[in-house]
Amino acid sequence: MGEEKFLVTGAMGCIGAWVVRNLLRDGVEAIIFDQSDNDQRLKLLLNKRALAKVQYIQGSITNLDDIKKALHQSGATHVIHLAALQFPFCNADPGLGAQVNVVGTANVFEAIRSAGNQIGGMSYASSIAAYGPDHLYPQKPLQEDVPLHPDTFYGTYKQTNENTARVFWKEWKVGSVGLRPATIYGVARDQGLTAGLSKATLAAAVEQPFHISFGGPTAFQYVDDTARIFIDAARAAWKGAIVCNMHNIVTDVREFVETLQGLAPNAQITYEKNSKLPFPVDFDCKNLRRIIPTVPLTPLTEAVGKTLDLFRKLASEGRVNSEQLE
Ligand SMILES: NC(=O)c1ccc[n+]([C@@H]2O[C@H](COP(=O)([O-])OP(=O)(O)OC[C@H]3O[C@@H](n4cnc5c(N)ncnc54)[C@H](O)[C@@H]3O)[C@@H](O)[C@H]2O)c1
Repeated sequence: MGEEKFLVTGAMGCIGAWVVRNLLRDGVEAIIFDQSDNDQRLKLLLNKRALAKVQYIQGSITNLDDIKKALHQSGATHVIHLAALQFPFCNADPGLGAQVNVVGTANVFEAIRSAGNQIGGMSYASSIAAYGPDHLYPQKPLQEDVPLHPDTFYGTYKQTNENTARVFWKEWKVGSVGLRPATIYGVARDQGLTAGLSKATLAAAVEQPFHISFGGPTAFQYVDDTARIFIDAARAAWKGAIVCNMHNIVTDVREFVETLQGLAPNAQITYEKNSKLPFPVDFDCKNLRRIIPTVPLTPLTEAVGKTLDLFRKLASEGRVNSEQLE
């Protein structure tokens, strides 16, 4: 295989923008496949020169031809599949959620299959929401291969994605690494159930009060680490359909707020003490260590510090403001 070229579905989103940033830093070509042409998240992370290097293909994963054409036209060697509707959007419209998250993911796998040997490796986003409520799993840490009991549309669709990947391996030997992110944290994390930690950091940077709508233990993942893991997982060119929990730092929202306030003493951040997230936090990550020998894991204080610094810089340049707290 010649030079690496990564096609990233959903790359206008938060994790995707960080994946693109990391690929460019590695000197690797990145191709964005997204139905949206809103590049506001990318613009937070890339300068104009870097952004100009990125190829953008507009299309929907709900349309098989769109993805097939994108793979053909781009000559991609790897795929990172992130495009999806998040938890609240699946609740708001379960049919559309299934179309994008379930049918769309089957289309991505089918496009890779029909591209023959073109794609050397792929990773895709599942979610810890595939597990469902913590109390259904008395045995901790949670193993990757326990039977899943999702109780939300979003979690159910993610479980189906994992099963879809298994069948694509069984029937046609399409190899994949499914990753289950938890609470993604960092600049550009502006929507979804757990975006409150990132918004609180923006609030601290622009010296505005902010209330995080949940409390309790949280499986915290710094988005830069997450992006690297998606890239390394695709590069692993896995022969099989493995699903991995992701390395994370289990912190309490209280500890997060204390860390943030230690770094920004004027911050006025509060949180909902009696509203815990409906997901487990204690995961075994042995599958991830099998495919990525060195898993990036930025310590909490460093991750919060880097995020705060970047938000402060962006605020001083007028590129983020308190309107993004809504
Ligand atoms: N952010 C988290 O905390 C978290 C946690 C667990 C799992 N995940 C999963 O990780 C992936 C990326 O998450 P994110 O936070 O970057 O999401 P995001 O909502 O920021 O971005 C999703 C992107 O997908 C695109 N998209 C939506 N429908 C599409 C379609 N039909 N065709 C093409 N593109 C489409 C959107 O335009 C958007 O750019 C998703 O699959 C998500 O479910 C995220």
